[in-house]
Amino acid sequence: MVSFKEKYGPVALVAGASEGMGAAYAHALAARGLDLVLIARRTTQLEATAHKIAQQHGVKVLPIACDLAAADATQQIVRTIGDREIGLLVYNAAQSYIGPYLATGLSTHLGIAAVNATTPLAMLHEFGSKMVQRKRGGIVLMASIAGFQGSGYLATYAATKAFDRVLAEGLWYEWKPLGVDVIACCAGATATPNYLNTSPGKASWLEPKPQSPEQVVEECLARIGTTPSFVSGTGNKLVSFLMQRLLPRKRAIQIMGDGMKKMYKIPPH
Ligand SMILES: NC(=O)c1ccc[n+]([C@@H]2O[C@H](COP(=O)([O-])OP(=O)(O)OC[C@H]3O[C@@H](n4cnc5c(N)ncnc54)[C@H](OP(=O)(O)O)[C@@H]3O)[C@@H](O)[C@H]2O)c1
Repeated sequence: MVSFKEKYGPVALVAGASEGMGAAYAHALAARGLDLVLIARRTTQLEATAHKIAQQHGVKVLPIACDLAAADATQQIVRTIGDREIGLLVYNAAQSYIGPYLATGLSTHLGIAAVNATTPLAMLHEFGSKMVQRKRGGIVLMASIAGFQGSGYLATYAATKAFDRVLAEGLWYEWKPLGVDVIACCAGATATPNYLNTSPGKASWLEPKPQSPEQVVEECLARIGTTPSFVSGTGNKLVSFLMQRLLPRKRAIQIMGDGMKKMYKIPPH
């Protein structure tokens, strides 16, 4: 049987890897013997994560400080990694804004679109083309169950996560026969520092308990190559089934918006 490293090695690139889910991907991939390229903005945090992983797993780790909102982010990364062969790309970084759409400037929404949608397009074009030439490789795009319907007060983020899922599914179809596996991981609430920093309240009794980053990552790495997209965690699968298959779309959108209002105590406006 072909090992994970033979299929997706020798090097994995994790975009958004200084902490949380990205760092969990990095640890899990290093544990499978892959060398790593790790991207994030905060140099100190990124280098500490890279050092810890290299020490713990005995793999080579190259940290690259880069803002993925920059129009030339992909070119910056390509210049730094030289001829390293990226067999797996995990695009984990994301930006979000919680609140009324008009309560922040357009630049916030454009920044979210850049990190969550435009740069993934460029990274997939760059690294996907090389994988297709080599007839092997894998790509993980982090999506979210927030992107399964319009999500009031999280509208731009949710729209980009719908984009990521649909993009991954389309490329799964195109690239599977060419030897490249693409998957969208649709996570629900996950206890990363980013999520916990938003201090979410409880939306309803139906809301599943947040997963740990490690649970999401292990589920994703077990599913890559088997499906174009999946929802992580049993609770999230049940809620998604209810929202997508049983409820009218209008009701699902209302539940999401009402839940956001309650979780983040958004005042009427
Ligand atoms: N956490 C959840 O509840 C949840 C739920 C559903 C889906 N997801 C998805 O899972 C992924 C990880 O989520 P997470 O929120 O909780 O975050 P995380 O795993 O903590 O990762 C955020 C990482 O991305 C980096 N990053 C953010 N903006 C960046 C930028 N402009 N340029 C470069 N690096 C950047 C951050 O590092 P620096 O700050 O150092 O740049 C950090 O390392 C996201 O795609 C998110 O949409 C999360």
